[in-house]
Amino acid sequence: KNLVIAVDGPAGAGKSTIAKIVADKLNINYIDTGAMYRAITYKVLQNNIDVNNEDQIIEIAKNSDIDFKDNNIYLDGKILKEEIRTPEVSNNVSNIAQIKEVRYLMVDVQREIGNKSSVILDGRDIGSYVFPKADYKFFLVASPEERGERRYKELIKKGYDTTLEEVIKDVIRRDEIDSNREFAPLVKASDAIEIDTTGKSIDEVVESVISKIR
Ligand code: C5P
Repeated sequence: KNLVIAVDGPAGAGKSTIAKIVADKLNINYIDTGAMYRAITYKVLQNNIDVNNEDQIIEIAKNSDIDFKDNNIYLDGKILKEEIRTPEVSNNVSNIAQIKEVRYLMVDVQREIGNKSSVILDGRDIGSYVFPKADYKFFLVASPEERGERRYKELIKKGYDTTLEEVIKDVIRRDEIDSNREFAPLVKASDAIEIDTTGKSIDEVVESVISKIR
């Protein structure tokens, strides 16, 4: 039987860092579901589509082929890397991820992957909506300051000119949109294990996740 592990939580809580390491340790696939919504957002921006034009965005999503190979995301056959992590994509992704039809399409891909292989998925609605019967569910949280700081350090390392204040504001704004959308919002599943990663090392968090799985 396939193992399905859900890792949800707000932006910058450490989901992808932890999920990647756990996937390696357990030798299962890792799916970054945020990257899927980022990929659609990237394509929308590339095609100069108005980010408020839902019909056109849905058309784009319908005509997109999103796939994972070796834990990398591919959009229409082309690997995506840093181009989906720009501030421009981050600023628009939550609005596009609110669109129900876009979510249906992404969730179909996620369920298909989880139904045929053992996988750890990180996202916002994996334990609550995509895989309500996941074998294990984790919900990572951290203080807004620490989440903002993690994102800020990543952006500075990549050469973006921004301020900590600005990044914290963006993270909080994204969480607000993600938590308040009508369909499949960011929410802790009632049976998820909550882990506060504030002030914890990566090793410590990985260890507490792994200890629950064994
Ligand atoms: O995980 P990451 O921060 O890269 O996700 C980017 C955005 O994609 C989130 O802020 C959220 O709007 C959206 N998302 C979502 N559902 C998921 C994963 C991400 O709505 N399962």
